Amino acid sequence: MDPIADFDLTPFNTMGLAARARFGALVTDSAQLSDLSRFAASVGLPLHVIGGGSNLVLRDVVEAVVAVMGTKGRSVDTTGHTIRVTAAAGEDWAELVGWTVGQGFGGIENLALIPGTVGAAPVQNIGAYGLELADRFHALTAWDSVDSTLRTFNRDECGFSYRQSVFKQHGGRFVVLDVTLDVPRQWTPNLGYAGLDTLPPTASPAEVMERVVAIRRSKLPDWRVLGNAGSFFHNPVVDAETAAAIAAVPRYPQLDGSVKLSAAWLIESVALKGHRIGNAGIYDKHALIVVNHGGATYAEVAELADLVRSTVSGRYGIALTQEPFVL
Ligand code: EPU
Repeated sequence: MDPIADFDLTPFNTMGLAARARFGALVTDSAQLSDLSRFAASVGLPLHVIGGGSNLVLRDVVEAVVAVMGTKGRSVDTTGHTIRVTAAAGEDWAELVGWTVGQGFGGIENLALIPGTVGAAPVQNIGAYGLELADRFHALTAWDSVDSTLRTFNRDECGFSYRQSVFKQHGGRFVVLDVTLDVPRQWTPNLGYAGLDTLPPTASPAEVMERVVAIRRSKLPDWRVLGNAGSFFHNPVVDAETAAAIAAVPRYPQLDGSVKLSAAWLIESVALKGHRIGNAGIYDKHALIVVNHGGATYAEVAELADLVRSTVSGRYGIALTQEPFVL
């Protein structure tokens, strides 16, 4: 399978940036990765594997061989003391959540409607509404691009923390091929997060999922309508003294004494909510989202991100870290 030259990535990124890769290919069988890796080496370019393109900011021309992971397949094993759900990397994450909940299995419903693929989920340890992937993770299989071998990672080996994993730290060395989750037999709903706390403790997985979907729809723009890559910055984790100096910011104390602050609040407080540079803007209903109002360019998005970082840093001395990868 030869990659396609001057490959159009516009349909493969939820920010809707017009971008082209030097070469691109759709991967339907993970065995194709070795060939693509050899091809990339032969043309002197890196190989980048992407999933749903929901956590990406693309340059106008991506100097790489880009492989779009499209492998499919999912299964459930109910024979053990937990219920084990396995899905191929190219499966849509939100569909997987709907599929498990549809079978009556609770456990990942708080992660409903998160855009992206199953293979991308562990890379940034996706999280929302009081749950992280790590909480339900069992193991994954990854292809090691260094020596073209397959490796299994259990939960400890993945090094999960807030939006972090060894896969992110190794910058694309490991390509996730499939993910296995453990969902509990004795399920109880996780209703701690604001908006879920009004549901009764007897709520079913489907009812929790429905509420999560409603909250997400009310707060976050649908990328099909308004291009975006979800949260554009991490919520910064700072020491208690720094947090105490900003009295009004929503805060989430961490076990080690540090404090996670709301990046959305920080951005709103410096009057950047709704701010636009060209066709890129801060979403006017949620300050953590950078949106493409139509025809935005990489340069506009980058300039806006720089403005947010420098303004927040100038006011509070806090450095915001960008969440989406730049290719
Ligand atoms: N807030 C503002 N201004 C805004 C929006 C929110 O001040 O424009 C304040 C709210 O008042 C609230 C706080 O910010 O107190 C938190 O807002 P929200 O509940 O929307 O959550 P978030 O911290 O902004 C994080 C995740 C989201 C995830 C939600 C829900 C990160 C970087 N983001 O956002 O994840 O859906 O919590 O759990 O941790 C993503 O990673 O792409 C993503 C959408």
